[in-house]
Amino acid sequence: MLERIIALMADGQFHSGEELGDKLGISRAAVWKHLKKLDDLDIPYSSVKGRGYRLQDDVEVLNADRIKQTLQQRLDCLEILLDVDSTNTYVFQRAREYMGQRYAVLAEKQRQGRGRRGRHWVSPFGKNIYLSLLESFQGGITQLEGLSLVAGIAVQRALSKLGVDGVQLKWPNDVYLNDKKLAGILMEVTGEYSSHCQVVIGIGLNVNLNVDEAESIDQPWTSLKQVVANISRNDVASQLLNELMLALDQFKQEGFSSFQQAWSELDIYHGREVDILSQSENDQPQFSGVVKGVNRKGELMLMTSRGIQVINAGEISVRAVR
Ligand code: BTN
Repeated sequence: MLERIIALMADGQFHSGEELGDKLGISRAAVWKHLKKLDDLDIPYSSVKGRGYRLQDDVEVLNADRIKQTLQQRLDCLEILLDVDSTNTYVFQRAREYMGQRYAVLAEKQRQGRGRRGRHWVSPFGKNIYLSLLESFQGGITQLEGLSLVAGIAVQRALSKLGVDGVQLKWPNDVYLNDKKLAGILMEVTGEYSSHCQVVIGIGLNVNLNVDEAESIDQPWTSLKQVVANISRNDVASQLLNELMLALDQFKQEGFSSFQQAWSELDIYHGREVDILSQSENDQPQFSGVVKGVNRKGELMLMTSRGIQVINAGEISVRAVR
């Protein structure tokens, strides 16, 4: 019911308790009870005597039917949550139940959105995309090399279909626009080393994030609203799911090698000198070199003073040398 109230209040106009109650077939007291829950969710709304209630920001709420209508790929289950700790955690906890199925969860808000390297992912209500997709693999964890880079390519392809050009990738799977971070990917795996396993691919993409909300982000960031006016979050969500599922099919059939060239072409640091930082060494540069693309496994190839070094994912990050 709260979802329906929010959907009615999301047009930026005032709605009286009576009007909301009539539209939803519930009493004014019941409406009021539901509205109290907006406080629990930290959803900013105004209440003006004689006029009623409205959400403070125009919000386009996510709608499962609308997203499913534009999906071209088979998705077994799509869930939309108003509020969750983390969509990745939520899907991970249900992985066994959805074994062998494609199961996606989107949330309007995450209380404990998680980023790579133990970072927090800023996830305010109704602003961005917080998506996790569960996929099963028969061949075990060893088969997954390069998969997180493939997810980055899928995000770039989805954005290109939505008319957003110039998206680039930073190894292993950060998504950049105009040299600022637009989206991030957190991939988590459960299962057997050499038989059945499942992967949760979590994507956080900034759509309408504003400066106040982004205060705690400690790196240059951007959001889609800075380059396109009025982009629909439902369209972004379905395009992301479409491209992600297409890319997963291609990955299962052909492996990472069929994405190798595409990834290197999107690489923000291609041909540039970078430092490789290790988290376990307090982000001290481990070595430097010029980026030469990725190999057939998705590992980063660096030309250093000691020849080509191959970097595989772990708790490391890449930073341009100024
Ligand atoms: C990064 O550090 O760049 C990865 C960010 C991943 C954020 C997404 S939002 C949906 C999913 N749920 C999470 O808690 N994290 C991922």
